[in-house]
Amino acid sequence: MTITVLGISGSPHRRGNTEQLLDSFLAGAEEAGATVEKVVISTLTYRSCQGCNACHKTGVCVIDDDFIPLLTEKVPGADIVALASPIYSMSITSELKSFIDRAHTIWALKEKLKKVTYSKEHRASHLGYYIGTAGMDRTDIFDYAKPVITAFFNGYGFSYPEDQNITAEGMDRHGGIRGHPTALASAFEAGKVAVERLKKKE
Ligand SMILES: Cc1cc2nc3c(=O)[nH]c(=O)nc-3n(C[C@H](O)[C@H](O)[C@H](O)COP(=O)(O)O)c2cc1C
Repeated sequence: MTITVLGISGSPHRRGNTEQLLDSFLAGAEEAGATVEKVVISTLTYRSCQGCNACHKTGVCVIDDDFIPLLTEKVPGADIVALASPIYSMSITSELKSFIDRAHTIWALKEKLKKVTYSKEHRASHLGYYIGTAGMDRTDIFDYAKPVITAFFNGYGFSYPEDQNITAEGMDRHGGIRGHPTALASAFEAGKVAVERLKKKE
């Protein structure tokens, strides 16, 4: 079976630090034999969640835009999903947050309407990753992203081991991701390992 890996970039900075780190992860996954796809949120047409809560009753979002196929087909159809975002103002970007808020429909299907449950096997065979960069040197800088990313992956029944985040802080000191001594190579390796991990379960 071919393993599919979906990378979603929430950085508005095209080919910036975060997208390059995501690209390395996807290149590693591809080398391990996966089919990979990258979606860049800033290139999509979308609106933020309006908070109407219609999805609590219908399980369907009232907004019909580019997020819908991503939320209802691409994410559930992937074996591995990597959400990438730099830290902007101590958290993930508004682009990625908008996307995660729109996944409220998925939360509603599971928690309000009880229409979706995930088996242990499903969780074990679907992996979520967070890929992040930050300007500061603080090692706790990505802690602000973790609960949001966890909420997203819980909705889809993906395992999200927080200790396997692929992150690079200190971008200011390193002068960007290419100045970091290990980040790009580590992300490549992490992509390979993620795919090999799933292949072992087959
Ligand atoms: C609007 C904005 C806000 C930022 N806020 C923070 C911050 O709060 N903490 C931090 O460590 N870095 C912050 N940074 C630096 C970025 O996280 C860092 O440069 C990152 O690598 C940029 O990734 P990108 O090239 O994908 O945009 C900020 C950058 C921008 C543009």
